[in-house]
Amino acid sequence: MPLKQVLSCIQPTGEVHLGNYFGAVKNYVDLQSKYECKYGVVDYHAITMPYDIKKLRYNTWDLIFSLMAVGVQPENLFVQSLVPEHAELGWILNCFCAVGRLTNMTQYKDKSLSVNQGGKETYISAGLLDYPVLQAADILIYKADFVPVGKDQSQHLELSREIAQRFNHFVGQTYFVMPEALYTESPNIRSTADPLRKMSKSAGEKHYISLFSEPPRIRKQIKSAVTDVGTNDGEHMSPGVANLFVILKAASATSEIYKNLLDDYKNGTLRYGDLKHVVAENLIDLLLPFQEKKKEILADKKRAKERIKASSSIIRKKAQETIREVKDLIGLLNVRF
Ligand code: AMP
Ligand code: TRP
Repeated sequence: MPLKQVLSCIQPTGEVHLGNYFGAVKNYVDLQSKYECKYGVVDYHAITMPYDIKKLRYNTWDLIFSLMAVGVQPENLFVQSLVPEHAELGWILNCFCAVGRLTNMTQYKDKSLSVNQGGKETYISAGLLDYPVLQAADILIYKADFVPVGKDQSQHLELSREIAQRFNHFVGQTYFVMPEALYTESPNIRSTADPLRKMSKSAGEKHYISLFSEPPRIRKQIKSAVTDVGTNDGEHMSPGVANLFVILKAASATSEIYKNLLDDYKNGTLRYGDLKHVVAENLIDLLLPFQEKKKEILADKKRAKERIKASSSIIRKKAQETIREVKDLIGLLNVRF
């Protein structure tokens, strides 16, 4: 039996933080032993919102290096714009998707609101509206069986299935594989500065902990973590303390340390300073090998870039094969120049 195909993509919008790591990237690494995996850094998606040209190119490579540093195998990685067939299939799939489905997407509504914030004169791009069709192309072009994503992506996944179905119906055969979301159990990591919101880059620097922060910065961020907002009635843990326990568990502190601290909490003898110390030191231990690996990669950036260009070119072959088949199926011309 051939291995099942896994495909997922991530936008190069800045540093990888603990939320991204525990919520998505760690699964990318783990899935590699069970499936044939492809992971894309999707720069075509990143230009759907206002952006800075230089930063985009930097962020694209930086994300690639970060993914390599945490254990994603370079042969499984590609950069979307090095496989332009994604955009070509995206165009074709546009013709199999009703506009009304796109204007209804929650992420489109949320992001189009944020485009206009900050008083700068700007506009909502047609690319932002069309984004889920490009996402469908990312998935369908590799005939992926499984797509590991967060719950926030379920609407987009459903649309990808709908587009595949409409296409298959039109050509009268089950050409595209119906992709399934792979929702892996993942902790919900909150901002340590404001545990009522999720850890994310958009809220600003103090709201996320980067995987590649130096230990003193991690200690400082954890030390200043908010612990006393919300309910703190002795029975229900406050969101800030709960978040520290979530991070501790995710960072795989031995179950004994975790259990002992939890017992202390229940007995009312836990000192938050002690909890913070253990969380920070466990995080630092977890992140140190990633940080060292990234330094190694950065020391020979050129080589790493060449590896990713090569893997993108190999992955592209599969995308080109799909495009040829699709063009044949729907009556477009196919000439190999
Ligand atoms: P983003 O680019 O921030 O939307 O996130 C990329 C991936 O990381 C998505 O699959 C999210 O589900 C996941 N993710 C982001 N923030 C968190 C968080 N605070 N907790 C868990 N998962 C997260
Ligand atoms: N839309 C996804 C996000 O915002 C990123 C993405 C683009 C993606 N193409 C994809 C995820 C294909 C899975 C499969 O996180």
